[in-house]
Amino acid sequence: MMSNELLRLEHLSIQYKVEDGYLSAVKDVSLGIQRGEVFAMVGESGCGKSTVAQSIMRLSLDHNEQIAGKIIFKGKDLNALSEAEMEAIRGREIGMIFQDPLDSLNPVYRVGRQVAEALMLDGMSRAQAEKRTIELFQDVQIPSPKQRIKSYPHELSGGMRQRVMIAMMIARNPSLLIADEPTTALDVTVESQILQIMRHLRDQYGTSILIITHNFGIVAEIADRVGIMYAGELVEQGPVDQVFDHPAHPYSQVLMAALPRFSKREGRIRTIDGTVPRIVGEFTGCRFANRCPHATDRCRNSDPPIRRLNDSHFIRCHMEDASWKMS
Ligand SMILES: Nc1ncnc2c1ncn2[C@@H]1O[C@H](COP(=O)(O)OP(=O)(O)OP(=O)(O)O)[C@@H](O)[C@H]1O
Ligand code: SF4
Ligand SMILES: [Mg+2]
Repeated sequence: MMSNELLRLEHLSIQYKVEDGYLSAVKDVSLGIQRGEVFAMVGESGCGKSTVAQSIMRLSLDHNEQIAGKIIFKGKDLNALSEAEMEAIRGREIGMIFQDPLDSLNPVYRVGRQVAEALMLDGMSRAQAEKRTIELFQDVQIPSPKQRIKSYPHELSGGMRQRVMIAMMIARNPSLLIADEPTTALDVTVESQILQIMRHLRDQYGTSILIITHNFGIVAEIADRVGIMYAGELVEQGPVDQVFDHPAHPYSQVLMAALPRFSKREGRIRTIDGTVPRIVGEFTGCRFANRCPHATDRCRNSDPPIRRLNDSHFIRCHMEDASWKMS
C-alpha cells in the first residue's frame, strides 16, 4: 500500500438478492484514495455509485447483499471488523453526507444540540461543546449562528441543513468524508458555496473526500481524480484534467461528446442512446458492448481487462490503444 493512501477498494463486488436471482450492482471495483485527496465518482443513474459508498460505511449490509473483495481503510479491512468496531469508525473516522440532510438530522432536536452532542461524544463538556458549535456554524457560513443553533431542522432551508451536516462532520473531524450527491437538491449558488466549504475542509483539515455526482461541473470544481462508473464497473479512472481532455474509454468519450463543447465542465450527464443493462446472474463480456460504437465479437465474448495508460490513468476495455480513437 502506498504510504499516503487512506482508503483502498480491492476487487469490490456487490450483488443484491432480487426476485429473479442476484443483481450485480458493483463488479470488481478497485481504487485508492490518498490523504487529502478529492475523488469524484460519476455515472448514470443505477450504475452502483451509492452501493459503493454505503458498502464503505457498511450501511446496507444485510441478508439481501453479497459482498466480495476488500475495503481497506487505514490498513484495516473493514469487512473483517465486528459491528462494534465498525460503529466506532462510522462518524468518527468516516463521515457521510447525503442528498437530503433531513434523512440524517433528528427532527425533534435543535440543530445546535445535535452538533454539540457529536462533540460531547468525543469528551467535550456541554459548555465547551456549545461554544465550539457556534464556531463551527461560523466556519460553514451559517448566518447568525447564535440564533440558528436553536432552530429545528425543518425550520432551515436545504442549503442550511447541508451546512449543519458539514458542521457535524467537522466536529468529529473524520479522515474520510463520503458525500453522496450532496448538492443535488440545492440551487446553483448554494451548491457552489457548499463545494467551497468542502474544499476548505480538505485544505484546513486534510480530509479526504469521496464525492458522488451526476454533474461534471462539480467534478471540475472540486475533484483531483475522477472515476467513471458504468453498470457497476469502474470503466475509467484518472486525474480530472486527463479524463476530461483525453477520455479514453468509449463510454467516457460518448459522455464527454454529449456535453456541449463550451460547457463541457459545467454539464450534467446527458442521456445517451440505449440503456444500461440490468445484470442478473452470469454475464460475460463488456457491459457497455450493446452501446459501444467500437464493439467487436471479442468484446461480447470475454471480460475486458484493465489497461494502464500511464501511472494514474486506467480504463477497462479490450481496445489495445483506446486513446487513438479519441475525439
Ligand atoms: N437494496 C437493494 N436491493 C436490490 N437492488 C438494489 C438495492 N439498492 C440498489 N439496488 C440496485 O443496484 C443498482 C445500483 O444502485 P445504486 O443505488 O448503487 O446506483 P447509483 O449509481 O447510486 O444510482 P443513482 O445515480 O440513481 O443514485 C441499481 O440497479 C439498483 O436498482
Ligand atoms: S471492451 Fe469493446 S465494447 Fe467494451 S468499451 Fe471497449 S471497445 Fe467498447
Ligand atoms: Mg445513488
